[in-house]
Amino acid sequence: MSPNSNQTQTTIDKKSAPTNGQLKAFINQADQLKQQIRQETLSLAELKQKYLGKNGLFKKLSAQITTFDADQKRQAGQLLNHLKDNLTHYIDNLTKEPLNRQSKIDLTLPGLKSTQGHIHPISQAIEEISDIFEKIGFVRVRYPEVEWDWYAFEAVNMPKNHPSRDEWETFFVDAPSHHDKGKIVLTPHTSNGQVREMERVLKKYGKPPIRMVNIARTYRRQQDVTHTQMFHQFEGLVIDEDINIQHLKGTIDHFVREFYGPNTKSRIRPFHFKFTEPSFEVDFSCSLCDGTGQIEVTDEKGKHQEKCKFCKSGWHEVGGAGMVHPNVLKAGGIDPDKYTGFAFGWGVERTYTLREGLNLDDIRLLYSADLNFLQQF
Ligand code: FA5
Repeated sequence: MSPNSNQTQTTIDKKSAPTNGQLKAFINQADQLKQQIRQETLSLAELKQKYLGKNGLFKKLSAQITTFDADQKRQAGQLLNHLKDNLTHYIDNLTKEPLNRQSKIDLTLPGLKSTQGHIHPISQAIEEISDIFEKIGFVRVRYPEVEWDWYAFEAVNMPKNHPSRDEWETFFVDAPSHHDKGKIVLTPHTSNGQVREMERVLKKYGKPPIRMVNIARTYRRQQDVTHTQMFHQFEGLVIDEDINIQHLKGTIDHFVREFYGPNTKSRIRPFHFKFTEPSFEVDFSCSLCDGTGQIEVTDEKGKHQEKCKFCKSGWHEVGGAGMVHPNVLKAGGIDPDKYTGFAFGWGVERTYTLREGLNLDDIRLLYSADLNFLQQF
């Protein structure tokens, strides 16, 4: 809006004003207000408050009128009416055409970047894990997290008295049981996908090979710095003729190199799972102490070595693995005399938090909904 556009409407007739010095000063102040508002770079709300607000400049100017005599009051009153119209008109026009306020806009300034979110770090990890396995021929699947007891336990060779089938470990859903498949649970591991995948492949192709990576949510009644009640696992399953432990170790090594970088070490230790025979636990070297179990600390005692508080031994256990148990192959309708296979199941959160540079010593933070924490990824 041009600074002169309202001039005719509000011009003050200075010739007819009395020569009284007080009134003259009053008229000058009113003129100044009209000029001043046009130089402002305030927001509309701030403008309104500064000029027309309860304690605004217009109110302060009007207050002076009380000291004038009757004739001066009449003239000053008219002047104030004009001034108020002028200020209001100016502000209203800005509301309609805010771009008129040239002083606010500098087209040469760089634009304001809109803030952009990103996917959760665990979703990022899941995408990476899928990519690594898909590139070597694994098929990404996702089997139910609300699952029949049959797929979660019975079909993977876990007897009724197995401790993980206890309600201290597993969440049971309060719903009617299935006559064959039993109760409904929140699956405590992605191994529930093993027999489901065997059924899918047999139905579709009539026989193996199977190369599955099942990544899904899993649930257990646990909570501490390395455990959450809801977490994710990725389950690998390979079944074909002549599959042996070397294929398993080779797949683990490939994953380690791709996910952690070529310098990360891995090891397998004998263990026991009901659904694999032989079975192993799989460890990766700790990123905080580089697999040594010791951390260099400098304090009042000077520079010295201390036990790494994150891993305590140099290694982190990330999951289990082994050769598929014949009973599991049978439960999935596959002949164990003809086919063999390997399987592994690891925690996504734990696998991800071992990443170099992450140094996250409490995985519960991942689900704390703390944006200050999550925005770092
Ligand atoms: C299993 O769940 C087996 N089903 C893995 C498996 C699959 C073995 C196929 C053999 C063949 P385990 O209970 O050890 O195993 O859990 C595997 C991994 O899940 C753990 O090493 C850990 O990384 C992760 N995990 C387990 N519980 C939690 C939890 N509460 N919070 C976060 N991660 C967990």
